[in-house]
Amino acid sequence: MTPTTLRLYVVLTIANSPLLLFGNSGSLPAAPNPVLKRTGAQVDGGLSCTACHQSFAPTNSDNRGRVVIESAYYKPGQKQTIRVRVEHPEAQRWGFQLTARTASDETKTAGSFTPSASVRVECDDGSPRGSLPPCAEGTLQFASHTAESTRNGTSGGVWWDVEWMPPATGAGDVVFYASGNAANGNGTSAGDRIYTTALRVGGCSAAVKPSIRAVVNAATYQPGIALNTIVSIFGEGFARAGQMRAAGTGDFDRGNFPKELACMAVEINGQRAPVVYVQGDQINAQVPTIPVSGPVQVRVLANPGAPNQMASDPVTIQMHNHAPALFTFGSSKSVAAIVPGTGQPIANPNVIQEGRPARPGEIVELYGTGFGVTEPVYQAGERPPEGARIRDPFTVAIGGTTLRAEDVLYGGIAPTSISGLFQFNVRLPESLADGDVPVVIRIGGLESQSGVMVPVKR
Ligand code: HEC
Repeated sequence: MTPTTLRLYVVLTIANSPLLLFGNSGSLPAAPNPVLKRTGAQVDGGLSCTACHQSFAPTNSDNRGRVVIESAYYKPGQKQTIRVRVEHPEAQRWGFQLTARTASDETKTAGSFTPSASVRVECDDGSPRGSLPPCAEGTLQFASHTAESTRNGTSGGVWWDVEWMPPATGAGDVVFYASGNAANGNGTSAGDRIYTTALRVGGCSAAVKPSIRAVVNAATYQPGIALNTIVSIFGEGFARAGQMRAAGTGDFDRGNFPKELACMAVEINGQRAPVVYVQGDQINAQVPTIPVSGPVQVRVLANPGAPNQMASDPVTIQMHNHAPALFTFGSSKSVAAIVPGTGQPIANPNVIQEGRPARPGEIVELYGTGFGVTEPVYQAGERPPEGARIRDPFTVAIGGTTLRAEDVLYGGIAPTSISGLFQFNVRLPESLADGDVPVVIRIGGLESQSGVMVPVKR
């Protein structure tokens, strides 16, 4: 992922944006919860879903698809998300099964899974399909799709975020086994492609001292940082090449964004900052709620809190009361905007394929960061269920016209997203002409970066 596409990714991952949601699942026969021990693990007998879904046997025979387990490390006793992804260019419906074992003895469960709306968990009680949690101490566990999360009608691929509580200290490496069904959605076991994979992960063992090159506003990649702003930290030694990790619901700490992710933590002014995303040369984090203006120090910690912790040299950044910035789609200048309700992106199709220009007079939803204190105040990493309005006066100008107060319906934290992601619901002027129209938000004597625009067409 290039840094520029990351900018959009930030918006999507932390906004719980409708853009991220998958296609509708139509009504159709429920997929049964699969029989247990069908992940392909040899220790369980080596069977996979192919035992019944036989059309494309053997397992993994169609190399256009795959199942992937995304996890790089685990921290003993601290829950995290294990993402399971299934892909195939022709499939229309999806399923999976995941199990976690200690590498030293694969007959033993490693930690436990938590069920969610999209993930079913079964305990191995000796019956073919197992029983629902709570599982008896030490029993094997299997996470799988729910009927709803098979997402019938969705093309390309899907993923599930499985919440996992790793074992306590001293358990050593963990091995995950997963099977994936890239199904055709016909409500039978025919015509479906089955994949299996395994992944071994250990505790935090980052081996290089991290180093910071720059700390910038995540929306602009320029200086400009205020309390609660989402920032991008560029540097080296944040993860192994090719590994990336976005915080998922399973990583949340009592509902809030985690203060460490993938064995990395960030300290700003001596306080741990919530971490949203980590890859080898970039970390996205949120500045803590510190009412400071002037210089503060930033450090990245590898293996945080462990005996092998390594801290980067500190970098000094300037804090301001406000740092208004608008997210844009990818590397374009097109403001990250959606149609409220449907979540359809507002962008020209050459920027986002499923996008469309805005219409004059229409209400649109824009995203940004760095708008300072809200009412009520939310701490960094919190996810206000109903949003919270910006405290200080601000104005929104579209196409050079400052909007009337009644046309700014909302300006504040995007509900349920991280408290640094701001959302503006604004009614566009009726008088806008077709074309790319500039968007500027002003607060505290500063304005959002120049050149950002929204496409308009009657
Ligand atoms: C014991 C046989 C059996 C096994 C093993 C099995 N399935 Fe199935 N599966 C079925 C049957 C039968 C159906 C048809 C739906 C029904 O009968 O309700 C089905 C349907 C499905 C569907 C919907 C398919 C479609 O095209 O609409 C998905 C998804 C699915 N199974 C996932 C899995 C996964 C993932 C595994 C392995 C972990 C698995 N199944 C293992 C018997 C099985």
